[in-house]
Amino acid sequence: MRTIDVWRGVLASTLIALGSASAADQPLAERPWMDSGRSADQRAATLLQSMSQDEKLALLFGYFSSDAPWKNYKKPQEGLVQSAGFIGGNARLGIPALTETDAGIGVASQPGEQARPRTALPSNLATAATWDAELAYSGGRMIGDEARLSGFNVLLAGGIDLARDPRNGRNFEYGGEDPWLAASMVAAQVRGIQSNHILSTLKHYAFNDQETNRTTLDARIDERSARMSDLLAFEFAIEQSSPGAIMCAYNRVNGVYSCESGWLLNQVLKTDWGYGGFVMSDWGGVHSTIPAANAGLDQESGYPFDVSPYFADALREAVDDGHVAQSRFDDMTARILRSMFANGLFDDPVSAGDIDFAGHALVTRADAEGSLVLLKNARRILPLGRDIKSIAVIGSHADAGVLSGGGSSQVYATGDLTFTNPHNERRRMIYFPSSPLKALAARSGAHLAYDEGTDIKAAVKLAARSDVVLVFAHQWSAEGWDVTLNLDDDQDALIAAVARANSKVIVILETGGPVLMPWIDQVAAIVEAWFPGTSGGEAIARVLTGEVNPSGRLPLTFPRSSAQLPRPMLDGYPEQAHARTVVDYTIEGAAVGYKWFDRQHLTPLFPFGYGLSYSRFVPSDLSATVQGNRVSVRFMLKNAGPLPGKTVAQVYVSPVQPAASGWEAPKRLGGFRKLDLMAGQSADVTLSIDARLLAAYDSSAGNWSIAEGDYNVLLSRDAATPVAVTTVHLVREILPLHP
Ligand code: BGC
Repeated sequence: MRTIDVWRGVLASTLIALGSASAADQPLAERPWMDSGRSADQRAATLLQSMSQDEKLALLFGYFSSDAPWKNYKKPQEGLVQSAGFIGGNARLGIPALTETDAGIGVASQPGEQARPRTALPSNLATAATWDAELAYSGGRMIGDEARLSGFNVLLAGGIDLARDPRNGRNFEYGGEDPWLAASMVAAQVRGIQSNHILSTLKHYAFNDQETNRTTLDARIDERSARMSDLLAFEFAIEQSSPGAIMCAYNRVNGVYSCESGWLLNQVLKTDWGYGGFVMSDWGGVHSTIPAANAGLDQESGYPFDVSPYFADALREAVDDGHVAQSRFDDMTARILRSMFANGLFDDPVSAGDIDFAGHALVTRADAEGSLVLLKNARRILPLGRDIKSIAVIGSHADAGVLSGGGSSQVYATGDLTFTNPHNERRRMIYFPSSPLKALAARSGAHLAYDEGTDIKAAVKLAARSDVVLVFAHQWSAEGWDVTLNLDDDQDALIAAVARANSKVIVILETGGPVLMPWIDQVAAIVEAWFPGTSGGEAIARVLTGEVNPSGRLPLTFPRSSAQLPRPMLDGYPEQAHARTVVDYTIEGAAVGYKWFDRQHLTPLFPFGYGLSYSRFVPSDLSATVQGNRVSVRFMLKNAGPLPGKTVAQVYVSPVQPAASGWEAPKRLGGFRKLDLMAGQSADVTLSIDARLLAAYDSSAGNWSIAEGDYNVLLSRDAATPVAVTTVHLVREILPLHP
């Protein structure tokens, strides 16, 4: 095998090591781009003038920063060990190197002996389940802080592909099924990350909504539906967080690879939305030089994953020959520099330092606590009473820790445990050492006994002699493949058997997304705990014992069966290598998740937005006002229960004449607010609804328009349970493409 060393010449001549003399040390007259009083665009344009072609090219070409033995590839010496990417800096001009790590839930490491232990938040989907943008921001801020102190200045975070299908194996990395919820939560996290003077991506642009055949599949969707669903989530999130980069996806969209789609990159992203940052490819997502560069791709990432180093010599040649215009080549470079200036990479270079792990454990615990969704609580069995004498804890290594999702976002924690997936020993499940059993033992006077749940008879015996039974059930998911809706292995049988032996069974689910629950009527309570992060065990124990009132709400619909989904079988599933699968998103169009269920008159197992509390919240005084089609909603919400707690006020909008509205479905989430209320306390809440959530995209005119008519504004417990309604009248209006 040939060693891959294509670009080492340029790399060696331009590198500066992390922490070496920064550009800030030079007089301004020599480096005018270091004048922080000027805009990022001006600084980038000035610096560009001082750069040679080779220096520009070096910035457009990314290395993998881990060894890739299958390609006989060694990471660049200066890159950070076991990390995702590296782009050499420039000592002559003081351009810092770009040090890239995955960072969806924390500072990740590529697999290997030298993984860096870091704090992991709950999965992104769990953070979305908090419906609490402040928690998402603090989580992002924490990740960014650990990243800075680890020497990283580019974070591959911000997963926001919509959960079009509950079986997408990467849903746990994303923000759920609704564009407004996903954007609000993911953007808050990205803002938190970037508050550390580093830059974050949003990814994977676009329609990487299943893992089966992700590198070859062709997602088919009409423009109108595209702009009103997944693209709208990106559009909102870009506006709310100004991410430094957008990562284009592996898959094709309407026949064209995302990383060479002129429509996605040049048209929608850069022209219609006016995005000024840069587009980097996903690792292995580039398939050409000239089409990709001309379509709007600015930087090739992790080149050993691509078949060829497309943005190395081949790009230089394309520019020399005029196939890629010099102006486009300069634009690619300037966009990267501009994002580096805008996010403080030049002015405040990263350097390694000590991390406050104790403080961060509380940040991730708060996120997990806010994310747990109480799905069922018959006879108010939760919180666990103080009179309980014996508790059986069964299954899912609950004695040792909590499960995490796998793939490039994998964070490693000190003392974590690896268990091999029984169906495929290459699939390694990492459990963070935050034991629910130990956390419960520290809070309960009851006798606790653990059974691993692999022998159903033994588990039943323990259940029969215990007052209460906690069954921990899991479904592991990871990047690279999709899942079914069933719990792994014999867990359904385990739960059913245990529920026959004891009427007080509480099921705690650690899953990437929705699962079916054939035993739902037999158990007393169900808690969805997702992948809860490095303080997850404690968060679970605090919710079960009532130290914390549960307040998570589902960020995606839990179906009753796969027959209810737009595709009862995932297109291309199970995966055949190199299959050129077509994934037909024209079936549901923009009616993703609850919108599909509404449109088809289907009753799910649990609707979008669903979640119970130990308290009771009562709304009143709903009103809505319209000023120039800007809808503002006001209402009161009272905690009428006995305990302090948080709740989520959800406002949906629904046209009275659906057919005339041009909407994809009968209703949309228009806004939400997480509220923290003492027992007896009331809040006076005002929300405004983004005009695009009242409009439809008209692809022939190329704009958004609001149809004249009456619209119901619903204050709801969840997507299926309105509790108050008022009506507004809107007049016809064309909205500007770039507000
Ligand atoms: C994933 C990206 C990730 C990249 C670098 C790819 O396989 O799809 O999300 O950022 O690897 O690790």
